[in-house]
Amino acid sequence: MWNEAIKAGGVAVITGGASGVGLAAAKECAMRGFSVVLADTSEREMARAAQSLAGQDADVKTVKTDVSDAQAVDRLADIAFDLGPVALLMNNAGIARPTKTWDNADNWRRMLEVNLFGVLNGAQAFLPRMIEADRPAVVINTGSKQGITTPPGNPGYNVSKAGLKVMTEMLAHELLAAKVPISAHLFVPGFTYTGMISSWLPEKPDAAWTSEETVSYLVDRLDRGDFYILCPDNEVTPEIDRKRVAWAAQDIVENRPALSRWHPEFAERFVAFEKPGRNVQEVRAS
Ligand SMILES: NC(=O)c1ccc[n+]([C@@H]2O[C@H](COP(=O)([O-])OP(=O)(O)OC[C@H]3O[C@@H](n4cnc5c(N)ncnc54)[C@H](O)[C@@H]3O)[C@@H](O)[C@H]2O)c1
Repeated sequence: MWNEAIKAGGVAVITGGASGVGLAAAKECAMRGFSVVLADTSEREMARAAQSLAGQDADVKTVKTDVSDAQAVDRLADIAFDLGPVALLMNNAGIARPTKTWDNADNWRRMLEVNLFGVLNGAQAFLPRMIEADRPAVVINTGSKQGITTPPGNPGYNVSKAGLKVMTEMLAHELLAAKVPISAHLFVPGFTYTGMISSWLPEKPDAAWTSEETVSYLVDRLDRGDFYILCPDNEVTPEIDRKRVAWAAQDIVENRPALSRWHPEFAERFVAFEKPGRNVQEVRAS
């Protein structure tokens, strides 16, 4: 529905729109003629973001919103629909806080509230009116590879993004079954140098893409109508992503231990699968 949504025009609402990929997406939407509503938690950061869109000749509105607060997201929807029909909803706001499964319960709750329930709040506040409008529109939910291949390190973040992945898959199917002109898409950035990353890495690593590169890939895939939009970066190619997703799914099919990719006894097999012709020593040295 992306191309139809652009033709029809209207309002683009982007949560977490004051920074990173959300802000880059806002620029893209402004350039394509949408009125843009940025929703984020800091008035100051949103004002700065809106300023950076000033040259685009688009209507830009900022609405202070904590996506974990359902009433605040309902208010955001009221404001957005007052401006016109919503043609693009990007549920993108996200946070990463450290967790272990036996510790950091507060961080777990907050990440689920923002990364998962924040997206549900967006769907519940906007979709009934988008469906009622019966106009071409897209819903883009920002997930993570950590919700697909679930690497060790941050179980709370992984669970929030795995839940978001399933929610978005269900939504895409529900919209199809409802025969409405609205499509849902799972947008999965690769390693992208954004506010989330610069808070612990002061300089952009070579491996990371910029937010603009990631959003340009998103737009290219929306043009094709893809549901799964897994972005590469300067280190991870689409082929490597496909191998990693396949390996994770095969853990169940082959009755391997959970997260076998990171088990020492599977290291050699995984490298041979991901990068045929190479061994663990070569990969570790590279
Ligand atoms: N940067 C990466 O490498 C990467 C990789 C995979 C997925 N992601 C996902 O991309 C999305 C965007 O993150 P980013 O990397 O651009 O980081 P970012 O920190 O630059 O942007 C996230 C924005 O969300 C806002 N936000 C946080 N909590 C909020 C809340 N409760 N309500 C409203 N806004 C809130 C922040 O203020 C910030 O402006 C996130 O969902 C993140 O999980 C990022």
